[in-house]
Amino acid sequence: MLVKTYGYALRGIDAQKITIEVNIGKGFFFMLVGLPDNAIKESQHRIDAALKNNAHKIPGKGITINMAPADIRKEGSSYDLPLAIGILAADEKLDHTYLNDFAIMGELSLDGGVKPIKGILPMVIQAKKDGFKSIMLPAQNAQESCVIKGIDIYAVSHIKEAIQILKKPSSSPKFTSSVRKEFVLDDIDFNEVQGQYKMKRAAEIAASGGHNILLIGPPGSGKTMIAKRLPSILPLMSEEESIETTKIHSVVGNLNDQRGLLQIRPFQAPHHTISDVALVGGGNYPNPGAISLAHNGILFLDELPEFKRSVLEVLRQPIENREITISRAKFNINYPASFMLVASMNPCPCGYYNHPEKDCTCSTNQVQRYLHKISGPLLDRIDIHIEVSPVDVKDLNAETNSEKSEVIRERVIKARHIQADRFTESSSFTNAQMSIGEMRKYCRLDLSSQKLLNRAMDKLNLSARAYDRIVRVSRTIADLESSTSIKSSHIAEAIQYRSLDRGNWGR
Ligand SMILES: Nc1ncnc2c1ncn2[C@@H]1O[C@H](COP(=O)(O)OP(=O)(O)OP(=O)(O)O)[C@@H](O)[C@H]1O
Ligand SMILES: [Mg+2]
Repeated sequence: MLVKTYGYALRGIDAQKITIEVNIGKGFFFMLVGLPDNAIKESQHRIDAALKNNAHKIPGKGITINMAPADIRKEGSSYDLPLAIGILAADEKLDHTYLNDFAIMGELSLDGGVKPIKGILPMVIQAKKDGFKSIMLPAQNAQESCVIKGIDIYAVSHIKEAIQILKKPSSSPKFTSSVRKEFVLDDIDFNEVQGQYKMKRAAEIAASGGHNILLIGPPGSGKTMIAKRLPSILPLMSEEESIETTKIHSVVGNLNDQRGLLQIRPFQAPHHTISDVALVGGGNYPNPGAISLAHNGILFLDELPEFKRSVLEVLRQPIENREITISRAKFNINYPASFMLVASMNPCPCGYYNHPEKDCTCSTNQVQRYLHKISGPLLDRIDIHIEVSPVDVKDLNAETNSEKSEVIRERVIKARHIQADRFTESSSFTNAQMSIGEMRKYCRLDLSSQKLLNRAMDKLNLSARAYDRIVRVSRTIADLESSTSIKSSHIAEAIQYRSLDRGNWGR
């Protein structure tokens, strides 16, 4: 007889319903059609073993399986369970009264165990939209799906449980959403960073306005330390942001049974040897890259000049568009990639250019060459460049504790609220994202600020691109003070955050 089961395929970070038709008739064959990849073709053997080991077997009859729509490539092993259930039902070994209520996914092991799969969260979201009453999924994936309300979730760890549930769903236990588990930061806090007030202030401004930031300083000055602590001063993600970010992590299989919805903003720190595909996403079977895993959070590029120039170049488009498009012959995939870029670098190859005590051994040329490893257009997109001195020994020995992250975060949240009110009607969320028009509207400078900025541009030989950045950052500094207008003191501070724009750097 003919039965249908339903599974899901991933397209980017969204899922699409796949109808699996199983027909058992005369003959002796097993035919699988509808653009399945090799892993699915191999599922015949996994299903065979899983059923045999549980007192069932694939019937020795003509089995035709069609996966529709046929133009979508079906990958991976996540269709094992709906296929096996379909075969049992078509062979009339399983009651199919409730089969149409269910979307089913899971990979089978040879003993019939159900193994976790990638992308469950987008699948559950789509199954609900498609009107399914229930979804059956691997127990190890249940935690990531529990935030979606209005669809019954049945978590199974063995095919026997799946068969049991389909007999009478109403008397089977549903997976109830456990307490939302917070993905805990590794206990790191800003109060461990002694001194370095200038760098901490810049980090707070960057976090408040969502500004990209570059930390420049000698080895051991605490650049990496501060960057790693940035998520602890950012506001938690909104529900909508959480779901979107969690979907991306679900698609790459980063979540486990301990991690449900992500709430703390992600922090991705790829090594400088990363390839451009791993950074921005892509590959034969497209996958999101580090920039998408950093969506709504931070992408940290430590030792920026060590990254291949070609890798840094591919970042330009997503920084601008806040998403990345992967083009394939037959389709395009968009992965969201709205991240705050945090980068660090030494000021020169030896690390001691501008150092107050140690001599820099680099020639002017070497310093310039080092800086030029980072292209102008990329620097252009970084609002704050902050040059830091080595940490003061007095500060390191100080008994007093610095400010805790939660105290700083309160101020950041306040500044973000002001921005949320400002941008209610706009697609921007933060000052860093303001359009030119919005900048004109919200960043009017009074005469004295204007004069100060013009003088600085002349005196420090600042490039034209610096102008725009200084104005944006000064808006955030004003927001941190709850000041509706931008004052000259705000401009004066923002001017200090353009170290690399000064025409005399390295000379
Ligand atoms: N301000 C500070 N307060 C407390 N400890 C610090 C501070 N700065 C540096 N340290 C200590 O020095 C170590 C090195 O700091 P970090 O890795 O952040 O330096 P860096 O500026 O990234 O250096 P590099 O250029 O070599 O990467 C830290 O792990 C920490 O133990
Ligand atoms: Mg470092």
